[in-house]
Amino acid sequence: MSTCKITPETIRAMKGRERIASLTAYDYPTTKQLDAAGIPLLLVGDSLGMVVLGYENTTHVTMAEIEHHLRAVVRAKPQALIVADLPYQSYTTVEAAVTNAKKLMALGAEAVKAEGGLNILPQVKAILAAGIPFLGHLGMSPQNVVAEGGYHVKGKQETERESLLADARALADAGAFAIVLELVAKTVAGEITRAIKIPTIGIASGPDCDGEILVTTDLLGTSPNYIPKHVKKNWGMGEQIRQAALEWKTSLQR
Ligand code: KIV
Repeated sequence: MSTCKITPETIRAMKGRERIASLTAYDYPTTKQLDAAGIPLLLVGDSLGMVVLGYENTTHVTMAEIEHHLRAVVRAKPQALIVADLPYQSYTTVEAAVTNAKKLMALGAEAVKAEGGLNILPQVKAILAAGIPFLGHLGMSPQNVVAEGGYHVKGKQETERESLLADARALADAGAFAIVLELVAKTVAGEITRAIKIPTIGIASGPDCDGEILVTTDLLGTSPNYIPKHVKKNWGMGEQIRQAALEWKTSLQR
């Protein structure tokens, strides 16, 4: 990994050369550590609602909350590309999408991400036309978890497979620099990866994507309620925090 600032173009050019390791970032000190490890893409994801703010799902996350965490990540001045999530209902119209994407860029984001394909193509095109790099997100859409009645694998049915491929092609043709594939059936994730020229970054979508993204607190083991199955190893840091506090408390006793 080079020591220069990572750009969307750097990420795009990694396809077929180096697998793209991506993690979420929500605060200043963790961003410093992830950047020191050479992680090229850091996402200020709306997952922060669940793993940092204690919400039940990501539909409660506001622009103000993304902005707050984005500011902290930007202060760490990482070499990594900083991508910020457009939260629930912040891109329902073209105007809102562009206004909110510009707000995040003005705070130091270097690209934005939104969930959807052909259904949000006018918004994606307008964001790109405003000169803002765009990261796609297809498959399971956590912002639709209530409407979809849970977190389900996408692409098992032929119609789903076809629409995922059409969505991926549309985002790539529009000019997205990469696409996150969340909970996409393994064979379909591989098919999409081969069908488009931009990288796919998988989460729980099998081994055939061009890269992987994890929620950092899942990797560290500090996510509050559960660690998803696709996280092969978590570092048990939740337990370490408990032990540190307990040992210190015990040491105070005379
Ligand atoms: O919000 C988030 O952290 C995400 C990743 C899980 C891709 O969208």
